[in-house]
Amino acid sequence: MSSPCFFQKKGLPYVIKEFFSRVKQSHNFKRLKLISEKMDQENNDNPLPFPPNTIWDVEGGKEAGVYTWFKEINEELDNGWVISDNTKMLMLGGYSYLGLNKRPEISQAAIDAIRKFGTGMSGSRFLAGTTELHSQLERKIAKLHNKEAAIVYTSGYLTNISTIACLLRKNDYIICDKVNHASMIDGGKYSNAKLIRYPHNDLNRLKNILADIPNSSRKLVIIDAIFSMSGEPADVPNIIALCKKYNAYLMVDECHSMYVLGKSGGGITEYFNIQPDDIDIVMATLSKSIPAAGGYIASSEKIINYLRHESRGFIYSIALSTAMAATALKGLEVFEAERKTLVSKLNSNTEIFKETLCALGAPIGNSVTSIVPILVGDPIKAAVAAKTCHEHGLYIHAVFPPVVPAGKAILRASITAGHKKEDLIMAAKTIGHIVAKLEHMEMPQLSGYNL
Ligand SMILES: Cc1ncc(COP(=O)(O)O)c(C=O)c1O
Repeated sequence: MSSPCFFQKKGLPYVIKEFFSRVKQSHNFKRLKLISEKMDQENNDNPLPFPPNTIWDVEGGKEAGVYTWFKEINEELDNGWVISDNTKMLMLGGYSYLGLNKRPEISQAAIDAIRKFGTGMSGSRFLAGTTELHSQLERKIAKLHNKEAAIVYTSGYLTNISTIACLLRKNDYIICDKVNHASMIDGGKYSNAKLIRYPHNDLNRLKNILADIPNSSRKLVIIDAIFSMSGEPADVPNIIALCKKYNAYLMVDECHSMYVLGKSGGGITEYFNIQPDDIDIVMATLSKSIPAAGGYIASSEKIINYLRHESRGFIYSIALSTAMAATALKGLEVFEAERKTLVSKLNSNTEIFKETLCALGAPIGNSVTSIVPILVGDPIKAAVAAKTCHEHGLYIHAVFPPVVPAGKAILRASITAGHKKEDLIMAAKTIGHIVAKLEHMEMPQLSGYNL
């Protein structure tokens, strides 16, 4: 028989005490203590900035004249044009994909609702904030998605955070693509369930994660149908297959797919020919193709009823305004009546814009929607490109890491059915020339847009 080891002879408490006493006496520990005391002293002399620094070098961008956010719009004109700073500009950064904003009958619906209900809401939907318009809107949305029921929130962001946060419990799992929209990721963070993020589009990793989760835990996979920065679709059919195999529930964010993807704008189910029942929970916004504000979930009666009584962003916040509920209802009616024509116009507009950029050699990725990312790479170059586009009358934004991966800053254009082809050709040519010239342009000295 071998002799007992040190640990067995002395016992655990003795070993722990001895270990810490030796660490404290060691030279490195004393040095660490000195460094920490010095840092404390320095912090006292020079307190931490409050609030902390922004992730983007906002002040540097302003000083260098390449800050393009919050640019005021004075008026929205027809065919995708706006007035900004008293200058006419072509809007390429908006989300009115179907070009329905300012449609007279939709605006009229909002005016009528204000006349009937006033401008304010007198409470949460749970209490005094449910009108007949809300109920009609929810029934219409459910029918559109072939689901039993629906629930509307005041924004898409709120929809995602307050549904994802309440659907699961402590020992459950939320599994999410790393590139999902911030609202889905934030919903996962607010939840008591464990959030696991897998590398973008890595379905092998998703499979391994699902296989490792015990059957005693609930699993919810949350995914963007179309990734908002690239316009690329998620591999929803294979994600459905994995969810079925490993008994996971699936929630799909259709903010950039519903109303625009598929021949008649039926979204990801039409695009991939998926059965609506294969997706447990559909989420979408009323603020992009539908020219209102608000977000929604369409799902089973049981899940919607649960959300109506558990979802904090629904219960403890004001109801969607009646003006927006009426706008959304009329917007959905217009969509239903004209969906094929609107989507076909959107697609042909997008095609001409992409073709013109490609002809000039601009790298535009593999978007399958009217989101057109123009890859610039370096964030400072992207900032300069956006500013130069503004000077040429194009209202467009640059997108920097961490919203896109490091080294992959883009100019992000979104095309609408309301644009005119000749304007899009002009815009694509201008952008193509600006991007091509970046190599030879002098860049401002910035510490980097993403610090
Ligand atoms: C994929 C995705 N989900 C959710 C949202 C949030 O929607 P909303 O703008 O209605 O709050 C957005 C908004 O850009 C989005 O792109």
